This record gives sequence, structure tokens and C-alpha cells, in this order.
Amino acid sequence: MEFRKAARLLRLLALFACVHSQERTSNDAAECTALFQAHKHRARRRTHVGPQSIPCIIHQTWKTHQLNQPQGSYADSWKEMNPTCEYKLWNDTEITELAQSKSPDLLWPIWEGFTPVEKADVFRYLVLWAFGGYYADADVECARPIKTWEVPEETDMIVGYEFGHRFPEWQRAEIKFGRTEQFQQWFIVSAPQNPLLLRVLHMIRRRFAWKIQSTLDLTGPGVFSDAVHEFLEDNSEDAVQKEIGFRQSPPGAHYLSFPSEKLYGLGTWKLWVCAAGRVNSSPQVARDDPEEGKAPLIIHHFLGSWKTDKDRTPAELAKMGK
Ligand SMILES: *[C@@H]1O[C@H](CO)[C@@H](O)[C@H](O)[C@H]1NC(C)=O
Repeated sequence: MEFRKAARLLRLLALFACVHSQERTSNDAAECTALFQAHKHRARRRTHVGPQSIPCIIHQTWKTHQLNQPQGSYADSWKEMNPTCEYKLWNDTEITELAQSKSPDLLWPIWEGFTPVEKADVFRYLVLWAFGGYYADADVECARPIKTWEVPEETDMIVGYEFGHRFPEWQRAEIKFGRTEQFQQWFIVSAPQNPLLLRVLHMIRRRFAWKIQSTLDLTGPGVFSDAVHEFLEDNSEDAVQKEIGFRQSPPGAHYLSFPSEKLYGLGTWKLWVCAAGRVNSSPQVARDDPEEGKAPLIIHHFLGSWKTDKDRTPAELAKMGK
């Protein structure tokens, strides 16, 4: 073991010398090329981290392969904290090709009817359905290595509540959320061929036919939350009875229909539901419900570049001087 460590250190030193030597003879250059190739070969021997059924591949998307700052440094956090995982940044051309090749009958026929934001929404469900892995928006940073996340080994999918409690309907409208109990979709983790994600894709197709124009409902957290809620209801023995009770007399402010930090699933597919605090570090989450202030897996920076004024709350508009 000690010998292997020493050998690795020597290899790294040699690589370092290659990168930093100013004057090189052609002999040195050939040696350096060989060293780099051997290094790349070793790096390609991936070591799996995270739940077994979930491939350790991180997917992000951007117009081109050139990320702006600070998004570039967020991408680096994923690569640096998970060096044995694959990392893939999909550009606009590639997400279009993905829709065409992986969903030729369902989504490709309507693809040009989507706005760029809606295409980015559809992309995340489709790429995880087709390949599985870890999807994060470009403004999402990895807070700690995947191998240190306390998620059960048998997990097939990870989703996180956007907020630590369910809102009454009037408040949902005021904060412009799509649903009273919303699951965020800036960060989703899944094994490939997940029926829950296929259900999202089918729901999007139906809603397109229904002429739904709200992005929240058509492709965003509205449709995603609906599919997650369906799965949770189908996979919890007492869900319907609990919901009837809720509707007859709604309990206090900190109610969640399905408690977080828990594994759900009666059949073969297992869904891990994260507390909002794991995926949403905005101060009001912890303030609203201290139970949700758990150690985060990710940091969402809410750059929210997709928002137009009509998607913003009065408070957000005031902050921008509008
Ligand atoms: C995306 O990357 C591919 C392959 O590198 C390239 O051919 C294509 O032009 C890129 N598209 C955009 C929009 O940058």
C-alpha cells in the first residue's frame, strides 16, 4: 500500500515537471507524451461511487461547451469532488440530438414547440431516463463528494423538497410556486429507465396537447412534482387516508405529506426524498422550518437567468429596483 502511494506520488511529480518545464528536448517531449497517455488511461478506470443502480455520471447543460463564470467554477466543484465519475456538459446541438434519438415518437415531434427553457427542462428528465446519473443546473455547486452522502444503497432515485412545508393555496399563488408542495428540479438523481421519469415525459406530451402554456406546469416543477406525488401516493399504504384528513382539517404550518429523509417504494423502484435543507440553502428554508436545515448535498445559487418579470415575486422585483 505504501509502495503504491509512493509510486503514485512519483508519477504525479513527473507529470508536474512536464507541465512546468520551460525548455524541453524532443526526448523529454516524447517521454512527457507517454506519461500523459498513461495518466489518462489510469484516470479512465472509473470507480463507482453512490448507490449501485445509479451510474456516477454528472450531466449539465449550457448553450455551448464554454461555460461562463461563475458557472464554470460550479462545474469544477462536481469534477473535483467526484474525480472517479464521468462528467458531461451537453450543448444545445447535443440536447436536440438527444431528443431526436431517445424520444423520436413522444417528444421529438413537438420539440420545436418548446422555448429554450422548456427544452432545458425536458432535457434533464430525458437524459436521466436514457442514461441515468446526476443532473444539476449550471448554477448548482456540489457541496460535498457523492460518496459521503448519507443515501441508502438501494436508492434508485433522489429528489428533494423545494421547501420545508406545504403551503396553503393562497400562499402558493403569492409566492408563484407551481404546487403547494413542490419538488425542485434543479438537481435530480436517477438510475436509467426510471418509470417515474418516463411518466414525466408522457405528462409533458399530454399537457402540450392540452395547450398548457405555463412553463411551470408544462415542463417545470409543476409537472415534475405531479409525477413524484403520484409515485409517492401509489407507494405509501396510508397516503390517501392522510390526504383526506389533511383536506378535512389542515394541520399547522410545518406539514409535509411525505416526511423527508426517507426511502419510498413498495415495488422494485426506491425513491429517496431529501429534506429541503439538503438541496436548498436559501436562508428562508432553514428559518421557516429548522427541521429542514440539514447539511446540504449541493448549493443552488439561484442565478435564475430564465426568469422574466412575470415569473418574479413583488419582493424579487423590488430588490431589482422595478
Ligand atoms: C456542440 O458540440 C458539438 C461537438 O463538439 C459541435 O459540433 C456543435 O457545433 C456544438 N454546438 C454548439 C451550439 O456549440
